[in-house]
Amino acid sequence: MTPEEFMRFLAGRRSYRRFAQTPVPQPVIDDLLEAARTASCGANRQTLKYLVVQSPDMVEKTHAHVHWAAYLPPEQGAPKPGERPVLYLAACQDTALPGGSDLDLGLALGSMTAAAWAHGVGSCILGAIDRPVLAALYHLPAQMTLCNLVAFGYPACQSRVVPMQGGDVKYYLDEQGNTCVPKRPLAEILIGRV
Ligand SMILES: Cc1cc2nc3c(=O)[nH]c(=O)nc-3n(C[C@H](O)[C@H](O)[C@H](O)COP(=O)(O)O)c2cc1C
Repeated sequence: MTPEEFMRFLAGRRSYRRFAQTPVPQPVIDDLLEAARTASCGANRQTLKYLVVQSPDMVEKTHAHVHWAAYLPPEQGAPKPGERPVLYLAACQDTALPGGSDLDLGLALGSMTAAAWAHGVGSCILGAIDRPVLAALYHLPAQMTLCNLVAFGYPACQSRVVPMQGGDVKYYLDEQGNTCVPKRPLAEILIGRV
């Protein structure tokens, strides 16, 4: 992959919230876990553990406990039946291990979602989730703290970065229903060069 191709890959690796109802193949799921397993982490402590939510029954039960796209009205932001994720991964902190870190979690989920996108699989990291309900649904051991879900599936829409207008960070849908994600211009995020 050339650097230009890699930058295009990164530009496409956005959050997706509507999916084709095509299963994610097992070798792809294996790659997601491998990407998370080998991600960099503080002092190489590796405190994160993962639950694969892939059975149609558990995927269906999970949908009810996920909150989508806070900036959009639910009829626009939340996937409807027939466009919901086909797979979730639950990232958990194993509290029996020392050194849990949100930065480690972010790096692992960044690697995982990039590995998915390399297979053309879109994803959405989910923080607005009903953790106690999901922990009970998944029968998570008490030492596992549910941090985030990640939703996966082959995208049924597009998403692109657009110039930010008036400092407004809110993403929106265009006329085709594709997601537009405003990002601050470089001049605004670059403190300087020393
Ligand atoms: C830690 C974290 C939590 C998130 N939680 C949710 C969520 O609960 N629901 C949702 O629809 N999107 C969620 N997102 C997706 C963000 O809304 C999305 O990353 C942001 O709008 C920027 O879009 P982009 O990922 O395409 O750059 C989350 C993303 C991150 C990184």
